[in-house]
Amino acid sequence: MLLIAPSILAADPLNLERETIRMSAAGCDWLHVDVMDAHFVPNLSFSPQTVRSLHRRFPDLPLDVHLMMDNPGCYLKAFADAGADGITVHAEVPGDPYTLLHSIRDLGCRPGLSLRPGTPVSQVRDLLPLCDLVLVMTVEPGFGGQSFMADMLPKLDALRAAGYAGLIEADGGLDPDTVPLLLAHGLDVAVVGTALFHSIHPREMMDGMRKASQNRG
Ligand code: DX5
Ligand code: ZN
Repeated sequence: MLLIAPSILAADPLNLERETIRMSAAGCDWLHVDVMDAHFVPNLSFSPQTVRSLHRRFPDLPLDVHLMMDNPGCYLKAFADAGADGITVHAEVPGDPYTLLHSIRDLGCRPGLSLRPGTPVSQVRDLLPLCDLVLVMTVEPGFGGQSFMADMLPKLDALRAAGYAGLIEADGGLDPDTVPLLLAHGLDVAVVGTALFHSIHPREMMDGMRKASQNRG
C-alpha cells in the first residue's frame, strides 16, 4: 500500500499546526519536512526547533526529514533528538555519505539517500545497502509547486535493477495524475506538497492515490 507524506513546505507557515491537523485527519502516513539551508538549494526553510514542536504536538505522526543542506552531518543529532523518524541526506553533499548514513542509523533514525535529477543510480550503487529509503527527486530541489519530471521514472527501475530492496520515495510535482505513473515503476512513498495543501478534499485525494496503488497489483 502506498504511503503518503504531505510536505509542509507547501503549508501556510502561519498555520502549521492547523494544516498538520488537517492532513493527519485526512489520513496521511508521514509528514515530510523539507529542510533547506540556502546553500545546497537557493531557499531556506525549517529548523530542528520546528521538528521538535511538530513531534511534541503530534507524537504519533512519523516525521520524514529531508535535509537539503551542504553539511548535514552537523545537524543529524539535532534532528534526531528533535524527534525525526527518518533522516534523508543528499548524495551530492560534500563529505562522506557512508559516515552520514551510518550516523543516521546509529542515532535510531531511518537512513535515507536523496538523488537530484542529475544524479544517476550508478553513482550511488555502493551506498544503497546502507539505505532503508531512497528519495528520487522529480524536480530540482529547492521549491514546491514545480512540474513533475517524467524522465525520472526510469530511475526507480534502475534502483531495483541495482538490487536495492528498501523503500523508494519520490518528491516533486506529485499529484493524482503523476502518482500513478510512479506507482507503475514501483513507488512506495509519495511526497505531496502543493496538490494536497491546496486541496479542499485531501482525504479523497489520498484515498484516490492509495486506490491507484492497489490497482497496480
Ligand atoms: C523541493 C521540495 C518539493 C516539495 C513538494 O525541494 O522537496 O518537492 O517537497 O513539492 P510539490 O509542491 O511539488 O509537491
Ligand atoms: Zn523533500
